[in-house]
Amino acid sequence: MEVVERVQALACGELSQLPPQFVRPPHEQPENSKAVEGVTVPIISLSHPHNQLVKEVSMACSEWGFFLVTDHGISPSLIQQLQKVGQEFFELSLEEKENYANDPGRGKFEGYGTKMTKNHDEKVEWIDYFFHLMSPPSMVNHDIWPKHPPSYREVTEEYNKELIRVTNKLLELLSEGLGLESKVLKSSVGGQEIIVEMKINMYPPCPQPELALGVEPHTDMSALTLLVPNNVPGLQVWKEGNWVAVDYLPNALFVHVGDQIEVLSNGKYRSVLHRSLVNKDRTRMSWAVFFTPPHEALIGPLPELINDQNPEKYSAKTYAEYRRRKFNKLPQ
Ligand code: SIN
Ligand code: FE2
Repeated sequence: MEVVERVQALACGELSQLPPQFVRPPHEQPENSKAVEGVTVPIISLSHPHNQLVKEVSMACSEWGFFLVTDHGISPSLIQQLQKVGQEFFELSLEEKENYANDPGRGKFEGYGTKMTKNHDEKVEWIDYFFHLMSPPSMVNHDIWPKHPPSYREVTEEYNKELIRVTNKLLELLSEGLGLESKVLKSSVGGQEIIVEMKINMYPPCPQPELALGVEPHTDMSALTLLVPNNVPGLQVWKEGNWVAVDYLPNALFVHVGDQIEVLSNGKYRSVLHRSLVNKDRTRMSWAVFFTPPHEALIGPLPELINDQNPEKYSAKTYAEYRRRKFNKLPQ
């Protein structure tokens, strides 16, 4: 396996200048693409009456593809514990973390990772991560999960259970927002076989954050992504030609509509373009949970939504094929 230089190791080295592979092209640099002032993302309380929620959620997904959820019933202490165990893992020595190294080139996606350049022109992101599956149980390999701290597994399993509950609720609201029976979207993305993945993102302090990106602009290929950040802001979402900064809201879940929901809804719901910035003095972290269809699931616009006025805007393909094309930057 190739030796990978971890961003966390670079950041410890008291760099005064950003190494060139991290310097984004001028138009991508945060200092040249600032977020607009005075625009804020939708915030939706799940305590609202059902019919109101259907409207709020479907409007947020059509107009933004993104919203924050409050009053979701996940206890603040569980969120705190999740953050604590993730942070403790990243506080292990670099040597200890290397025992968990992934190897995407050989198809081993789970584990501790850092994206590398394929060629000299390509820029890299200021981020290390830990990635593993959480569900369905038949696909989970606990040997890959962090063993330190010892409570990692219990806390993460509990969070997984709670997030599945919230996601089921969101998928029901989204189905109803399309005028469909509440179970349609969940069963289209695999029902009980839906895949749940955890990615802990770790963005160390960066010597020149105005020139770098933590994560470059992208849409998620999931159906939905539910994220909690630590209190260091950095996420921005794209809305009508501008970047909009997402303020930290303690205990809120950051919900991203992913590509699969855009396809199933035939474009009524939009997969949100987003990026993340980094910070000069502080470590930013985020816990992104991806809900994706099983690899063999065939995903195309829901037939109930298609008629002469609304022809199909996307071609149906398996999730595995969608993923292959997206990884290889091929057209869908
Ligand atoms: C991502 O979209 O990949 C990460 C976003 C974040 O850290 O907020
Ligand atoms: Fe993302």
